[in-house]
Amino acid sequence: MLAQKVISIPITKIENNWKTKSDLAHSMHSACSRICSFPISIPNYFIRNYTKEGDVVFDSWSGKGTVPFEALRNNRIGIGNDKSPEAYILTHAKVKPITIEALQQCLIKLKRRMSRTNINEDHTELDRNASIFYSKKTFEQVLRLKKVLIGDNSRDAIFTKAIILGLLHGNGTNHFSLPCSHSYSMAPNYVKKYVKKHHLRKPSRNVLECILNRGKALLANPMPNIEGYAFNDDSTNLSLESKSVNMILTSPPYFGIQTYAWANWLRLWFLGYNYKEIKKTLAESGAASVYGNFMKDSINELYRVLKPGGRCFIVVGDVKIGPKKQPIKTAEFLLPYCQDVGFEVEKIVRDTIPSGKRVMTYISENQGIKKERIIYLKKPRHR
Ligand SMILES: C[S@@+](CC[C@H](N)C(=O)[O-])C[C@H]1O[C@@H](n2cnc3c(N)ncnc32)[C@H](O)[C@@H]1O
Repeated sequence: MLAQKVISIPITKIENNWKTKSDLAHSMHSACSRICSFPISIPNYFIRNYTKEGDVVFDSWSGKGTVPFEALRNNRIGIGNDKSPEAYILTHAKVKPITIEALQQCLIKLKRRMSRTNINEDHTELDRNASIFYSKKTFEQVLRLKKVLIGDNSRDAIFTKAIILGLLHGNGTNHFSLPCSHSYSMAPNYVKKYVKKHHLRKPSRNVLECILNRGKALLANPMPNIEGYAFNDDSTNLSLESKSVNMILTSPPYFGIQTYAWANWLRLWFLGYNYKEIKKTLAESGAASVYGNFMKDSINELYRVLKPGGRCFIVVGDVKIGPKKQPIKTAEFLLPYCQDVGFEVEKIVRDTIPSGKRVMTYISENQGIKKERIIYLKKPRHR
């Protein structure tokens, strides 16, 4: 039965049928690069083919917020949820942007507050690790910014924090750090050695100026006319109302293959979190029983929030887990949970996505992910 439902469609064909990446581009997409993000064409394909204007589109593991943002751009109501605090900030900024004037005002206030802030207290090990990325002058400003922004959950502050998350590390002219990866926070010891070996210079920045420059660039394209919503819930316990969503497009963690907390340790540090604590709250388990229970509860929630007749698309990758590198087809592994809760399984689309275009672009095939698949689900009308 199941084998008949598994079909192979080149997802690149889906993408090409739609529009090219440059047609879909928007300045906000460069806010912050983050591991395992959707290419823009995937949300556009599903949003435009399976929803109409005014519908509600939801992503339960929204990462940097591409699905809700693309929903808004298509005049749908976009809602994103992610348990990781830095992903929540990035999603929030996408669904509730601010104007350049508001950003300028926010930076004026920040400057005033930063000048009054004392940073001469004992530094933690994480502070010391963070300092490796910056010149002394830049790091002092980063510490002040961190201190004044912690606990400020105003809309302007959240948007400003999102810009900062995208500037903490990278190799552009506005990045605060020495030249390094933009998508993930590199390990401090590795960076230390790398700096020595390559005689890297740590740039001296005026961080507020960098934020303004980046803000102007991000806000260059017109923002959607509609605003969306961002949540910071565990996917097993969503605060969304039952039957409130027309379509779900989402991509959960693939067992324990990704390490979102560690990969974002510097961004989490800036927001005032220790990545080790955040790791405990995220689904990062390679054990089939733990992952299975997490996904069962999360799929129950997806079913609950979806309207009868609504569609749900889940992108997952095949993985190899455990010391014996046991191969698991995650989509097939999840099917019983989808069926038990009441979903009709329409099909699984097996990808032929070229490696550079996958969600998991940073992991090579021999490290784990061989293929990604999309599970097509429908909630029956009578439920
Ligand atoms: C494959 S990524 C999704 C990426 C997203 N599609 C994008 O385009 O950026 C999976 C996400 O699940 C989040 N996550 C992990 N455990 C979670 C949990 N228990 N509840 C909600 N989100 C969680 C991670 O922070 C990560 O952003």
